[in-house]
Amino acid sequence: MSQRTLVLLKPDAVRRGLVGEILGRFEAKGLSLVAMELRTIDAEQADQHYAEHVERDFYPPLRTFVTSGPLVALVLEGDEAVEVVRGLNGATDGRKAAPGTIRGDLSLSNRENLVHGSDSPESAEREIKLWFPDLP
Ligand code: CMP
Repeated sequence: MSQRTLVLLKPDAVRRGLVGEILGRFEAKGLSLVAMELRTIDAEQADQHYAEHVERDFYPPLRTFVTSGPLVALVLEGDEAVEVVRGLNGATDGRKAAPGTIRGDLSLSNRENLVHGSDSPESAEREIKLWFPDLP
């Protein structure tokens, strides 16, 4: 079933010049680009996006990281897009993510792991509304 998902190419992806490489993987897979914007977010937007993590020990440095520079927010669409994107992204920790995945090939960190993908269709709906409220 065709689905939409919210993806962030985090500030490490922009700083390292990996936006084209990562976007290329999503495009090559066959996902369609529905919205895309380079944006620098403040702490409030970070807290809204990561609402389920704000109380976790790892959150304060994560907030510092995601607000540290521009990131690219995108909405991708395609068959089972939520699961497909999570598969392409790989496990959260880049050191443990399988080779062939974005994090497995390009990240050595649990925090600076290049990409975010919505973890369920319900999260995707909430996150797309948060990042792109005017998207039809
Ligand atoms: P993301 O998929 O955006 O969802 C939550 C983010 O928190 C995750 O990617 C990582 O960037 C970060 N994260 C999750 N677990 C940890 C952890 N144990 N230590 C540091 N950062 C983490």
